[in-house]
Parts: sequence; C-alpha cells; structure tokens
Amino acid sequence: MTVHVSLKDPVLIDPIVVRDEQIRDIEAREALLDAAFGADRGAKTSERLREGRLPAEGLALVAAAGAHLVGTVRLWNVTLGPNRPALLLGPLAVDGAIRSSGIGGLLMREAIGRARDDGHRAIILVGDEPYYRRFGFATAKMERLWMPGPVERSRFLGLELVPGALDGARGLVSPTGREVPRWQGLELAEAWRRAA
Ligand SMILES: CC(C)(COP(=O)(O)OP(=O)(O)OC[C@H]1O[C@@H](n2cnc3c(N)ncnc32)[C@H](O)[C@@H]1OP(=O)(O)O)[C@@H](O)C(=O)NCCC(=O)NCCS
Repeated sequence: MTVHVSLKDPVLIDPIVVRDEQIRDIEAREALLDAAFGADRGAKTSERLREGRLPAEGLALVAAAGAHLVGTVRLWNVTLGPNRPALLLGPLAVDGAIRSSGIGGLLMREAIGRARDDGHRAIILVGDEPYYRRFGFATAKMERLWMPGPVERSRFLGLELVPGALDGARGLVSPTGREVPRWQGLELAEAWRRAA
C-alpha cells in the first residue's frame, strides 16, 4: 500500500508507505518509541500482555518514507476472559516532527482493515479516547474486563469488528500470542539488535 500525504516536513520527499514491519526496522522503531513515550515505557500495563510475545501474524506495521521510519503500530493476540479471542492494539506512534499529517490515521485504518480481513472479532487498547473514538473505539462493553495491572477506565477502549463480539465480555485480559523464540538465552529481538 502506498499512500501520498502532504507533509509539513520538506525533508521527506519520498511518499509515505505503510508496510509490514521488518527486522531492519527494529533500531529506528525503538528510537521512535523512546521519543514518543520515554524510556520507561516498559512499565505500562499493556506491556505485561506484550512482553515475551510476538505480534499477531501480519499485524506489525510501519509507515516509512524511503529509508526513514515515521510511524509504527502493532496488534497482539489476547483473550478477553475465557475463550474470547481478540487483539490488543499498541503501541501506536508517529515521528514528532511530522504529526497531524494523517500518518497515525493511515496506520490505524490499515491495522483495523487487516484485522477484520483476517477474521479477528474485536480490538482493545489503552489510550486517549478523544483520539481513538474516530476509529470507533469506546469504553462501552469494557466495564467487566480488567487488565493485568492498573488502567484508567476512561482509557480502556474496545472496538467490535464483528457486531456483538464484546457482548458479555468479562474477566482478565491475558496474552495468547506466539512466544518469542529464544536463541542462546537471548530473545530473538535482542539477537537481531546485536547482529545489526
Ligand atoms: C497519537 C499519534 C499516533 C497520532 O499520530 P498523527 O500522525 O499525528 O495522527 P493523525 O495525523 O492521523 O491525526 C492527527 C489528529 O489527531 C489529534 N490527536 C493526536 N493525538 C491526540 C490525542 N492524544 N488526543 C486527541 N487527539 C489527538 C491531533 O490533534 C490531530 O487533530 P486534527 O486532525 O483535528 O488536527 C501521535 O500524536 C503520537 O505518536 N503521539 C505520541 C504517542 C501516543 O500518544 N500514542 C498513542 C497512545 S494513546
């Protein structure tokens, strides 16, 4: 998917492309996330559902202008209480120099579209409702779900990809994704980083 957007930053002359995240994106993605959320981002409750896991198949996306990575979003396999498969979205971040150019929206729409096409039923996230409501996320039907750590209820949002998918949702949100393969005691991501 190639998308042309009008950017405020004249340095980025290449078109913005939303594509699958690749191993070569790791360093730039980590730097982008550190800048967006701070180095203590690992303390977030959502991280408890991501650590040691791989993102959902085909649902780790980046936005790039040529070799320059400008945005990232990932989705993760979880279950909402027993036997209710869903996806957790996050983190979503866009390079601070070129925000409000539509890149966050591009990443969100591509991620949601792919999730729906792949047969997923619902997406949850912890984030700012004033931003995510434009994609259909709301606190509705999230009241009886809880995360493995503290979370502000007003920021705990859900989106049904299949109507009724969150009806009666209740219980602990738990990770169900593929575990990160280990190689000589190092997580694969760390091995990639060291090899780079
Ligand atoms: C949130 C984020 C990904 C949006 O990326 P983006 O490329 O600027 O998004 P878009 O261009 O599609 O949309 C921009 C619009 O969203 C609004 N917006 C951005 N962040 C917002 C927020 N937290 N709450 C409400 N509105 C927000 C902007 O004001 C802008 O509004 P406008 O269209 O009326 O001008 C980006 O601001 C970012 O990386 N923020 C830091 C990390 C973060 O907060 N991630 C989300 C976790 S809650």
